[in-house]
Amino acid sequence: MEKLEQIYEGKAKKVYRTDDPELCIVEYKDDATAENGKKRGTIVGKGVVNNQMTNRLMARMEKAGIPTHFVRELSERETLVKKVSIVPLEVIIRNISAGHFASRYGVEEGIVFDSPTIEFSYKNDELDDPLLNAYHARALKLATAGEIETIKKYAFAVNEELKAFWKECGVILVDFKLEFGRLPDGTIVLADEISPDTCRLWDEKTHEKLDKDRFRRDMGGVEDAYAEVMKRLLAHDNG
Ligand code: TMP
Repeated sequence: MEKLEQIYEGKAKKVYRTDDPELCIVEYKDDATAENGKKRGTIVGKGVVNNQMTNRLMARMEKAGIPTHFVRELSERETLVKKVSIVPLEVIIRNISAGHFASRYGVEEGIVFDSPTIEFSYKNDELDDPLLNAYHARALKLATAGEIETIKKYAFAVNEELKAFWKECGVILVDFKLEFGRLPDGTIVLADEISPDTCRLWDEKTHEKLDKDRFRRDMGGVEDAYAEVMKRLLAHDNG
């Protein structure tokens, strides 16, 4: 499968057309941004980790019955995916307080919730991805009621699968962001990535941060953290 022209460039990935109108190639970059693009940098090797981690986790989701856009890995940084139209919602699941949850509600990080939370934000850079609820999403015609129900069901199912897998790796899944897409026939599938850019991952024993918060908060050791979680994933994922 060959890369034809680029059809999209995001903050961390490029998407190319292929000779099959139903398939695209995603290429992962080392570019890192935070605070909606205001903070920029490079995390050397991030594209390789994010590509390979996403693909292994997507394959696990498929096995668990959650449909995804994943087709097959083509190279260290490139993956063949089904072409989808992205539902313009960021779907965030949280198991433990951190990040914007902690700042928004004025609580410390690390509070373990009795049950996971879900929230949506509107994918819109000009508006800084504002938080919204399912009624707002329907009013803005971002998704139908049925699609939102499906997305919620899949998002919580992804949480259970990921939480259990990361636990085997000695990693706590604090929170994460998902994106979903529509296939040409309207089927909702999990899309985008599942990586240390889009998940908060803490070491089980020390609670050391093993994710992009090290970049967001200028903590150093960013590359080492990405390499460490990838190493743990590879030690516990047998395809
Ligand atoms: P938050 O605490 O900043 O809202 O982030 C919650 C989770 O979602 C965290 O794992 C990081 C991830 N996330 C993204 O992947 N992209 C984003 O644009 C935002 C705001 C969060």
